[in-house]
Amino acid sequence: MPQKNTTLGEFIIENQSEFKYSSGELSRLINSIRLAAKVVNHEVNKAGLVDILGAAGDTNIQGEDQQKLDVFANEAFIKTLTNREIVCGIASEEEDDYITIVGRNKKNDNKYVVLIDPLDGSSNIDVNVSVGTIFSIYRRVTEPGTPVTLDDFLQPGRNQVAAGYIIYGTSTMIVYTTGHGVNGFTLNPAIGTYYLSHPNMKFPETGKIYSVNEGNYVHFPQGIKNYIKYCQEEEDDRPYTSRYIGSLVSDFHRNMIKGGIYIYPNTAKDPNGKLRLLYECNPMAFLAEQAGGKASDGITAIMDIQPTTLHQRTPFLCGSIRMVEKAEEFVKEFG
Ligand code: AHG
Ligand code: MN
Ligand code: MN
Ligand code: MN
Repeated sequence: MPQKNTTLGEFIIENQSEFKYSSGELSRLINSIRLAAKVVNHEVNKAGLVDILGAAGDTNIQGEDQQKLDVFANEAFIKTLTNREIVCGIASEEEDDYITIVGRNKKNDNKYVVLIDPLDGSSNIDVNVSVGTIFSIYRRVTEPGTPVTLDDFLQPGRNQVAAGYIIYGTSTMIVYTTGHGVNGFTLNPAIGTYYLSHPNMKFPETGKIYSVNEGNYVHFPQGIKNYIKYCQEEEDDRPYTSRYIGSLVSDFHRNMIKGGIYIYPNTAKDPNGKLRLLYECNPMAFLAEQAGGKASDGITAIMDIQPTTLHQRTPFLCGSIRMVEKAEEFVKEFG
């Protein structure tokens, strides 16, 4: 069991041997992400001070207004990963298409691709509420040295070699997995170092929190409506507590520590829900399973879904294993 005062840098070196292949490359990649996260953290922290708030005026491919910090975070991660020639391709929630990275000498032998949601929960920035960054790493399926193709990005979540998030909250934390459990590191902003503060994080088997945007209740499928009513019934350890921040990273983080379920279902308006399979649901599903939790679309495990498009969306149920199983029972019975 690693010591609690281990730094992230030490932890990466000590655990390199756990990576199945290209351990040096994957370590350098995680190092680059932690570096970009510090840059974004600095910018997020001073968001209230400078005139950086408000929409940048652009609209991304999903028809959403981009906040300035969305753009900043997107560029910070892409620049860091591109300049350090650490990956062969990047896909981002904020980019219409994937980015091919060609090395300075026109040759790129790197084996990994990264998919990111550079700023998650961006509608919370203006009101000083926690936001995050989500990342997901795959080994490319095509030949190293050739340009990446869409196939390198459209892999089922089961193929992820690492995934994690950064939460810019009351403390800034990086939480990630390489398939050997989940570990959380807290940034000491005075010296810019992340320390292992949450070793081997686990979802409690069950919990008392449900997190869903209940304002959309009338549009929910019957199974989810009935599950919400079940959460509110006075029986056994119920009613549960309702907690919804509106930043997936923050809602997930709280539920992993305290025990709970997060639900973003399909609705009449959005038949596939809102959350994006590649940038949000797959990485969270990998973390959830590694922490003893569960993630599904109500029927199928999230990580077993074969993606067909980059910006694909999916209904999302994620959290403590018993709670997700219970919600799935309702979906199965009532649709
Ligand atoms: P993003 O800011 O990256 O576009 O993601 C927002 C997502 C997610 O973080 C959050 O859980 C969900 O949207 C909230 O949606 P509603 O406002 O519809 O509840
Ligand atoms: Mn967005
Ligand atoms: Mn998001
Ligand atoms: Mn985002």
